Amino acid sequence: DWTMQQFIDTEIKKIQDTVGSKKVLCALSGGVDSSVVAVLVHKAIGDQLTCIFVDHGLLRKGEAESVMETFTGKFHMNVIKVDAQERFLTKLKGVTDPEQKRKIIGNEFIYVFDDEASKLEGIEFLAQGTIYPDIIESGTATSQTIKSHHNVGGLPEDMNFTLIEPLKALFKDEVRQVGTELGIPDEIVWRQPFPGPGLGVRVLGEVTEEKLEIVRESDYILREEIKNAGLDKDIWQYFTVLPGIRSVGVRSESRTYDYTVGIRAVHSTDGMTSDWARIPYEVLEKISTRIVHEVDHVNRVVYDITTKPPSTIEWE
Ligand code: XMP
Repeated sequence: DWTMQQFIDTEIKKIQDTVGSKKVLCALSGGVDSSVVAVLVHKAIGDQLTCIFVDHGLLRKGEAESVMETFTGKFHMNVIKVDAQERFLTKLKGVTDPEQKRKIIGNEFIYVFDDEASKLEGIEFLAQGTIYPDIIESGTATSQTIKSHHNVGGLPEDMNFTLIEPLKALFKDEVRQVGTELGIPDEIVWRQPFPGPGLGVRVLGEVTEEKLEIVRESDYILREEIKNAGLDKDIWQYFTVLPGIRSVGVRSESRTYDYTVGIRAVHSTDGMTSDWARIPYEVLEKISTRIVHEVDHVNRVVYDITTKPPSTIEWE
């Protein structure tokens, strides 16, 4: 695409002029925006860019591996992976309030990033995947917070970096076009939205390793079957949640008392409103059967059929 190629060339030139021979840092999450910005900056200045990828232990199955494979393997970028699972789980221990959980995860993310960044020397710039809608949203902030959103776009303001935000005039679909033009794989360019606090808000109430495992495994099965059914590009977002309720079931003629997994799959254009996806019954059946058979401690699967509003897309 000619316009996108032109945009890329112009931005690369600008980044080179701004940065010179100095060093740039980028917080990579594996999401669309931070991925595109990282690859773009890397194209401009190569190894003068260092990325930090924080694995907070709240990622989906296989996600950390795939991020590292793409950016170090395919793009040969400098990525520091921080294994901070313990740190986050410890901080979340005993915490059940959704807003408090979000705040803890958001803050901890900044501390971890800060710690890691301070080990590096001579960095003057921070590249961020801010896009146009981010700017509009923060400019028209409503008085009431529904959920305190967190993503890697909102990093430490007191860090002494000069910001580089090459995507800040683009809408999401344009960011995707740029990403494709830069050779970023479809699985990242077309990745469904994933909240900054990750699975931390999909395990309702207290987050434990056991519960994370249930969400991770069930979510993986859901994603696999949605893909097998050819529905992955039709549905805006699909994931599983663990409400934390347990109920009675029967297996091999014995009573069980195990967890319920909820499936959430929605159509939306901007995340502000949504309708639940009419997934065919046969697909739902397959998903349900696989989850109760393949995921330990689950004996029931339910499907969330609420619109937003009055619901929200995520459960916390
Ligand atoms: P809700 O649950 O409020 O979500 O209907 C609307 C959209 O936003 C995503 N979401 C987040 N994205 N950081 C993000 O970057 C967050 O903290 C966050 N919380 C929710 C959600 O997945 C949906 O697409």
